Amino acid sequence: MRKNIVAGNWKMNLDYEKGLSLFSEIVNMVKDEVVGNQEVIVCSPAIHLSSLAKLAAPVKNVTVGGQNIHQAESGAYTGEVSASQVKSTGAAYVILGHSERRAYFGETDELLAEKVDAALKHDLKPIFCIGETIEERENERFFEIIQSQLDKGVFHLSNADFGQVVLAYEPVWAIGTGLTATPAQAQEVHAYIREAIANKYNQEIADNTTILYGGSANPGNAKELFSQPDIDGGLIGGASLKSRDFLDIVKVFN
Ligand code: G3P
Repeated sequence: MRKNIVAGNWKMNLDYEKGLSLFSEIVNMVKDEVVGNQEVIVCSPAIHLSSLAKLAAPVKNVTVGGQNIHQAESGAYTGEVSASQVKSTGAAYVILGHSERRAYFGETDELLAEKVDAALKHDLKPIFCIGETIEERENERFFEIIQSQLDKGVFHLSNADFGQVVLAYEPVWAIGTGLTATPAQAQEVHAYIREAIANKYNQEIADNTTILYGGSANPGNAKELFSQPDIDGGLIGGASLKSRDFLDIVKVFN
């Protein structure tokens, strides 16, 4: 179901105590701000998930998510974490396909499709990231790249399974750079993504898909970005590590 979602991606930040403290602050600040079909998600390193999920449990529409899973059920994969393990912490979502995983850990579209399947098998909702590099933007290949990532990463899913997926358009050139896509650039790609979903599945599924924007979103640009017709919220990196900034972004929907 389409929602207005503000999801924080803490990436590899905050030790155990600092994470607990920040999340407690966030929960206390946002719990009265999350209205209607809005949802606030914090995607933290795995060390935090169980504690954060316990804090989030009594709060309506505030949930937690992981940042990655291994595609196997279990076994000899030292250092990895499985879908069932993430789910067992109380997490509801998991980020998959983040450009940092694609770039630094060589995650291919085909591997990500397996991870998506593993997540769904254990009732974890994928926040599936897609986006072009600066070269692909400059060469005007971004629609081609987005279509390929959708085709290979999630368009193998049944109607019902795809309905569990949240998409996040994250132009790689905007991540952590302070160089945000303009609302028009972001809306153009979001509209393309929604049309691609309608072509693959049907218009109802396309209209019910949540498509987030990620890439240097902050309290100064979130309102204009999120007011675009096909932008349903944001996947927030740096600004999610500051409770005041994260709250200001959440309040955009109020
Ligand atoms: O997953 C969200 C992240 O990639 C965006 O990071 O710091 O540009 O908001 P940032």
